[in-house]
Amino acid sequence: MRPIPHPIAEILELARWAPSGDNTQPWRFEVIDEHHLVVHAFDTRDHCVYDLDGHSSQIAHGALLETLAIAASAHGLRAEFKRSPGFPDTHPDYFVDLIPDSRLMPDRLLPYIPQRSVQRRSMRTTPLTASQKQALQDAVGILYTVRWFEGGAQRWRLAKLMFDNAKLRLTLPEAYPVHRDIIEWNAHFSEDKVPDRALGLDAMTLKLMRWVMASWQRVAFFNRYMGGHLTPRIEMDLLPGLFCAAHFAILSKKSPETVDDYVAAGRAVQRFWLTATRLGLQLQPEMTPLIFGRYVREHRVFSRLPDIEETVSLLNERLLKLMHNEPLGQVVFVGRIGSGRKAASRSLRLSGEKLILE
Ligand SMILES: Cc1cc2nc3c(=O)[nH]c(=O)nc-3n(C[C@H](O)[C@H](O)[C@H](O)COP(=O)(O)O)c2cc1C
Repeated sequence: MRPIPHPIAEILELARWAPSGDNTQPWRFEVIDEHHLVVHAFDTRDHCVYDLDGHSSQIAHGALLETLAIAASAHGLRAEFKRSPGFPDTHPDYFVDLIPDSRLMPDRLLPYIPQRSVQRRSMRTTPLTASQKQALQDAVGILYTVRWFEGGAQRWRLAKLMFDNAKLRLTLPEAYPVHRDIIEWNAHFSEDKVPDRALGLDAMTLKLMRWVMASWQRVAFFNRYMGGHLTPRIEMDLLPGLFCAAHFAILSKKSPETVDDYVAAGRAVQRFWLTATRLGLQLQPEMTPLIFGRYVREHRVFSRLPDIEETVSLLNERLLKLMHNEPLGQVVFVGRIGSGRKAASRSLRLSGEKLILE
């Protein structure tokens, strides 16, 4: 691999820690010179049921660009991004200009880039303080509003929604290949997948799941006759949903429509997540009810399962009610948050050699 000029090597080394759905890292980098690079982004909508219209990837692209800008600030460089015209929405290209700016201070979120990680296990239920919530609202800026779902009753409703939604997630034939391909079994860390130890399951359940998930026939049999989804749903959805300080939703003031809108939302999401890390808080996104709901809201067929629309419609109505009838189209991110131990097991990232094109 040819040497990467300073300071782009250091900037990309940090930027690659941006989060992406299932750790797909839907980007590759092309370095032009010491102040210019191109981010070749892509989405996974062609094979991932959760990447509806590429929006999940686009939020990740935004998180990447924000992380890149924060990393560049350490070198007194202001990052400007231009989406190159003529590329399909599935493969947006971003031209990055790193402009020396003597007035630019290193971003205060800089040290938290490699520390930020998803925590899928229980957190403490100690409520967030008013100043923590204010810092998180400030992190997303005035174009976004953070709604909080706190207290035992609201956490229970969200936890139950996640628990019921997980039945769908775990029995949906279209989700099976995604889960099969993105979990790295017997692993605490994974370069380009989610290690099984980061899923939030206990050792016995994990062992059983590993065996069951080896084929769709096993999954279908276990789900049908043994209630195979019950224990994973309790461990991955119900208990974590109850054991957290709060659930939250980030709403955009205007419904996002374009690729650029979702990328902008992703930038805000990453500032929110890094600020949570700065405050010593753990976070887990809870995106699937929102995604499944949108399939139904837009009357789009996404599964061969019979009666699926009715099941998802009911979940969608519950989500709407929980959000106090806020337009769900404006909700760009949902998750749970709280203080607690950081995850002992986590996704790593592809090496520079794999991410940087020759
Ligand atoms: C747009 C987006 C959606 C995500 N959705 C979920 C989710 O629904 N559930 C979950 O547990 N993690 C979710 N994640 C977290 C990713 O799986 C995680 O960021 C990735 O595996 C990398 O791990 P790290 O964040 O610990 O570095 C999401 C991340 C992004 C950026």
